[in-house]
Amino acid sequence: MIPLPLARIAEITSGALAGRADPRAVVRGPVVIDSRDVVPGSLFVAIKGDHVDGHDFAGRAVAAGAVAVLASRPVDVPAVVVGDAVAALTRLATAVCAALPSATVIGVTGSAGKTTTKDLLARLTARLGPTVAPAGSFNNEIGHPLTVLRAAEDTRFLVLELSARKAGHIAHLTRIAPPAIGVVLNVGTAHLGVFGGREAIAGAKGELVEALEADGVAVLNADDPMVAAMAGRTAARVTWYGRAANATVRAEHVTLDGRGRASFTLRTPSGAAPIRLRLYGEHAVGNALAAAAAAYELGLPVTTIAEELSEAEPRSRWRMEVTDRPDGVTVINDAYNANPDSMRAAFGALGALARGRRRFAVVAALRELGEESAALNEGVGRLAAGEGLEALFVVGPDAGPILAGAGAGRTAGEGGGAPPGGGGLRVVHAADVAEAVDGLSALLAPGDVVLVKGPRAAGLERVAEALLGGDRR
Ligand SMILES: Nc1ncnc2c1ncn2[C@@H]1O[C@H](COP(=O)(O)OP(=O)(O)O)[C@@H](O)[C@H]1O
Ligand SMILES: [Mg+2]
Repeated sequence: MIPLPLARIAEITSGALAGRADPRAVVRGPVVIDSRDVVPGSLFVAIKGDHVDGHDFAGRAVAAGAVAVLASRPVDVPAVVVGDAVAALTRLATAVCAALPSATVIGVTGSAGKTTTKDLLARLTARLGPTVAPAGSFNNEIGHPLTVLRAAEDTRFLVLELSARKAGHIAHLTRIAPPAIGVVLNVGTAHLGVFGGREAIAGAKGELVEALEADGVAVLNADDPMVAAMAGRTAARVTWYGRAANATVRAEHVTLDGRGRASFTLRTPSGAAPIRLRLYGEHAVGNALAAAAAAYELGLPVTTIAEELSEAEPRSRWRMEVTDRPDGVTVINDAYNANPDSMRAAFGALGALARGRRRFAVVAALRELGEESAALNEGVGRLAAGEGLEALFVVGPDAGPILAGAGAGRTAGEGGGAPPGGGGLRVVHAADVAEAVDGLSALLAPGDVVLVKGPRAAGLERVAEALLGGDRR
């Protein structure tokens, strides 16, 4: 963080120094909310959660070297006392971002692929200068300002993931760190329930490009009509990416290898270069193109972009992790989260990877889909039934619609040509993770492929980890 004396922090946050805090004592960062992350020079932000109250750890934080505590009530150590710690954190991040001498802020949003694209882009900008990006999906109202506060005087790029659960969220995040480049990936069905419709989702995602100034750049997906329509909502110049022939930054000659990894030619106005991704699934092409388009705008040479994208490994856990067991069973762990679109992408990757092999899938009911929940979950069942699986395990409660969809899809499949393998689909409802692991283990034979994919709350990564016996790679 940019070094700031406590007096200045109190001024920015409209707080009061307490606990014999020295106004001249300087915070150099990091700003943290977990007392175990404190190092000398830190500012510890005491947040009162449902289960834990950060104020109880104030003493421990200062003992570990925190200069002071940003607190919403006096504690018996040096503190800046404010009305609302999260609001104060937001103000501090806003002020620090505005004071960064040479940082370009790049925001990434969309229904699916944000974390992947953010990780790819951070890798590209690191070739141009010091880059700060959040770890994983640390992008909520607390994670976002904490990430911004990691920026220092020499930071050249802040690559941020912006997600929304309702209108106004992204606009709020863009006020903390106003973006110069805004990347919108897609408008899908994630959080459909809380939004109430795809138009509302597009409305919320579009707040990112609305926040851009005229000298900014909106990087938009030419292949997604609802993203393309956002061109009308921004004052900034638009750079298109995608498979479409009119996209400025595009992929040509896309092919998938036997593991479902894409190769293609990256074409830009300043040249072309071959890319061979290590990320699994065809949907990774769009994410790579989005990162490439933003990096192209920043002036990174196309050959460097292609080189870096070809070297990138998945950075954040449980997203399309493909692991071979010693006995030749391949497990695709995509259990980080799921929505109807990423479910389709995951089955697409399974299809590409499992050519000629027996395939299995473990899924759980998708959540937060509102009124359309039953219909969309039935769709997941139908999708799974059309994938030529030996067996589909549906884990946990609310499995009804998926089971029904799979049953209907199976009947339709038998009418219109049996799936590869010929044996027909076995659909199993497993009450919990353990039951799924036991049932599946009994069926697996060398050479099989298993897709594990479900919403975060279902915790299906435990299925993948059990199948892999704790041996991850
Ligand atoms: N462009 C995409 N289109 C559809 N699904 C995608 C896309 N990118 C990623 N996914 C799927 O979404 C999951 C989450 O990816 P992630 O990069 O963490 O996205 P987010 O941060 O938006 O949740 C991945 O495991 C993958 O299955
Ligand atoms: Mg994410």
